This record gives sequence, C-alpha cells and structure tokens, in this order.
Amino acid sequence: MEWNVEGIGESAQTLVLPLFEEVAKAPNKATSGLGRSTAAQVREAVASDDFDGKSGKSLTLWNSGQKVILSGMGLPENLAEKDSRDAGAKLLASLSKQHGKSLTVRFTTGWRPGQMIAFAEGMMLRDYKFDKYQQKDDDDDDDDSPYSVTFQASDRYLRALHDGCARAGAIAVGVHRARDLANEPANVLYPMEYAKRARAWAKGKDNVNLTVIEFAELKKLGMDGLVNVGKGSEQKPCMVIFELNPDARDGPCPMIVGKGITFDTGGISIKPSGGMDEMKFDMHGSATVFGLMEALHGIGHQQPVIGISCMAENSLSSTAYRPGDVINTYSGKTVEVLNTDAEGRLVLADGLWKAGEFDPEFIIDLATLTGAIVVALGHEATGLWSNDTALLERIRKAAESVDELAWPMPLLPAFEKQVKDSKIADVKNLGDRYGGANSAAAFLKQFVPERGEGDDAEQYPWAHLDIAGTAWGTSTNDMVAHGATGVHVRTLTHLLTEQ
Ligand code: BES
Ligand code: MN
Ligand code: ZN
Repeated sequence: MEWNVEGIGESAQTLVLPLFEEVAKAPNKATSGLGRSTAAQVREAVASDDFDGKSGKSLTLWNSGQKVILSGMGLPENLAEKDSRDAGAKLLASLSKQHGKSLTVRFTTGWRPGQMIAFAEGMMLRDYKFDKYQQKDDDDDDDDSPYSVTFQASDRYLRALHDGCARAGAIAVGVHRARDLANEPANVLYPMEYAKRARAWAKGKDNVNLTVIEFAELKKLGMDGLVNVGKGSEQKPCMVIFELNPDARDGPCPMIVGKGITFDTGGISIKPSGGMDEMKFDMHGSATVFGLMEALHGIGHQQPVIGISCMAENSLSSTAYRPGDVINTYSGKTVEVLNTDAEGRLVLADGLWKAGEFDPEFIIDLATLTGAIVVALGHEATGLWSNDTALLERIRKAAESVDELAWPMPLLPAFEKQVKDSKIADVKNLGDRYGGANSAAAFLKQFVPERGEGDDAEQYPWAHLDIAGTAWGTSTNDMVAHGATGVHVRTLTHLLTEQ
C-alpha cells in the first residue's frame, strides 16, 4: 500500500468515512471535496436511521464517479486501539474491485491520533496476499497495483498521524516478510534458501552483519542438535545470525532465537499424513526473527539486537537420526532422542547456547514447538514461559498492547525433572504424556546459558514463546486472510523500542 497524510480537502474516487455513533449529522468537513449530490446523500444517510454509527455497521453510497463508505465505529470513548486496528483491517478486507485502488480515509469529529494510526495500521497489515504461484488474468492486469491511500485529518493531528503511519508501515513490511517466508512452500524455502534471502536483505546495509554457519561448520563446531535434526534431508541445516547495529554494542544485547524447521515430517517418528502440509509453517519462529530485523531496520532502530535462526528440514531417510540415538549438543550436554518429532527443542538447544556467546541482556526464543500448546490455548494466544518474572511481564504487556496475546504458562521443576530423567544421557527430548508444552519449555531451559561461573553462575533472563497456535490458522485474527500471521514481529518491535 502506498499512503500519504494530508489535511481534509479533495477526495479520491472512493471516500472512507469512519464515523462515531451519536453523530446526528455529518460533520461539515466530512463532505469536503464531494460533488453536491453525493454530499447531500452523505448528510441524509447520517441523519437518517439507516446509518447509526454503531460498531461494525456500514453503508455504501454509490454514485457514478464517487463512492462513499460510511463505517460505524461505535462510541469514541469505547474505541480501543485494538478495535480501531480491527476496523481498519475489516474495511480493507471488504473492498472490492469496484472501489478502485485510490482511496481517501477521512477522520473527522472525535478521532484521536492513536486511534487513527491504529486504523491505518490495520489496513496496512491486512493488505497482504500470497498469490505469487497463481496465474493472473490478463484482463484485470491493474488488479495487482497497490492501493494508494490518503489519510486525512485536521491540521493539528497531521504530524502525529504521519509519524505513526510511517512507523506502522515499516513494521508492516517486517510482518509481511515473516508471512512471505512462512507461507513459502518447503520445496522452495529450505534452510540455505532462507540463508540466501537473509544475505540478499543484509547486502548493502552498513548496520547489519550477517553470518551463515553452514553444515560442514556446524559439524566442526559440535552443533549436533542442528546437525542431527537436519542430516536426513538433502537440504542441509544451517544457522543464520543477524546482527543489527553491531558497532553500537558496548554492553549486554537482546538476543532473539527462532526455530526454523522448513518442513517437519516428524522424521522416523513420522507424523500422520492428514494436515502434514501445515508443517511448512514450522519455521515461523525464524520467519519472525527475519521480519523483526527488517522492521527494526525499517524504523531506524539504533540499538543493537541479535537474531539467531536455527534452520533445518526434519526429514526421514537412511541418513536421518533415529529414536534411541544419543546425540551431543553445542552446550556439551547429551540428549537421548526418544522421538525424532520433538526436533524443535534440539535445534533451539544449539541456538540458545550460541546466544550465550554474545553477552545477552536477555534471550527470547520463538518456536512452533508443540501441538500441546494448540490444545491448551487454541489459536488465541501464544504460550509464554520465562525464568525471569520481570521479563515475562514485559513480554506479556508488549504482546497485549499490540493485540498479539502471550499467555503465561508454568515452568515447573516437575517438568524439568521429566526431561532430566534419561537413564543413559544428560537429558531426554520427551516428557510425560500430559503437559507437553510445559515439558518442552523445561527442556529448553536446560540449554539456557549462564552468566558467571561456579556457585555464582546464574542463567540469563530467558523467555520462550510457543507460537504453534498463533503462527497460522487463526480465524479470529482480522489482520490476516489465511496462512501465516507474522506473529510477534509487532510484539518484539514494541518490546525492544519501548522507553
Ligand atoms: N512442529 C511440531 C509442533 C506442532 C504441531 C506445531 C502441530 C503446529 C501444529 C513439533 O515439532 C512437534 O512435532 N511436536 C511434537 C512433540 C512431541 C513428539 C513430544 C508434538 O507436539 O506432537
Ligand atoms: Mn516435530
Ligand atoms: Zn516441529
């Protein structure tokens, strides 16, 4: 979407008027730039009972050459940013070819800048398609052109509205990047293809360092979690490290680690075939890492941030790892593999340990880690675990404020006990039958690096986000039509840029 911000004046072919309830007559400025008869129609519609401004109600006025969408917003004091964002997204989703690509969105009586920005943000986030594999109809060739939207408000709000839109737009680019990567099928996006796209993005950016640790190097370094999970596929695993603003690093740095399983067959502990196609989304943690870097770069973030993506395809072949194998990890801890489908925790074990080499301020990992979290929270919230209550609360709040809920889950010693109970290795990659999302988190905790040594050693603040339910398949998320959501690019951008 292309957009700009200006004072109330002319109108494009399609005018969107989001109006509050109890506006008995159209505000004078609402009809600015409309032809005489269209303006009269708008005034009449607003004065009549046919349009009451109640939330979710809308009325479209058609005239040759001019279309006006009256969009009900409820009462101004009730319009939370979430509601406004949802309304913007729904508005965009409701547009059809007849509205054209040129829109004016006009904010009049009662609108506050935060609400306007959220409305614009909702439109931007919802304006996404993944249709690169579909043939285009020759007759509607202009269908592909982006929307061009002018946001209009009274002069005193223009600065705030412009800055807010610029920020929201840059972040939406990051969200859409994450969706693009996650929606990409696994025959196209395999570990080294992700690395290639990361290199292409980083190229020419002075304040971005990109490192790819390829298969041979992973083996040399002893990153055997990644090596074992990835070795059964012809498409070999890698670790991709994004460093944003490395020159500004003069102290502890936030670290974000993502699970990047480009396809999860389950390995030799093979998954049932129904719905297995969804396992192309099993790299959404790494997609969020990439999208976050792009969003932060796009808004001109000056502080250092490091992202680590653990990329592998969990395939099955004669070279695949097996149930019963005992493998090493980068940390030195050994793991008894009891189920090759519990692979995410193995690649993350190496990613978390790697993060410890960078003097972390805190470490946050994102992973489509367990089916159990989908059972627990459905598609409505991400599971959130942490060894640090302050960090947990910060993440919970950031997630809530951008409406990407992250719900606290228990990191109980009993779950740690389950994964520590291997008879032949330091840990095992499987817990008991119930509470699987918690034992997965407890497994990850075994690989969180420590600050200091000996008795003074203490784990870095760490949080784990299980996004298996929120990365795709949500029907209540107005920001997405279908497919990958790009979840937590906005949460983490908010977290890392809050004052
Ligand atoms: N990628 C899956 C988790 C998943 C399942 C994500 C369904 C989204 C939807 C993960 O690698 C996995 O297979 N987890 C297993 C763990 C089990 C073997 C302990 C699971 O959840 O069944
Ligand atoms: Mn799996
Ligand atoms: Zn998986």
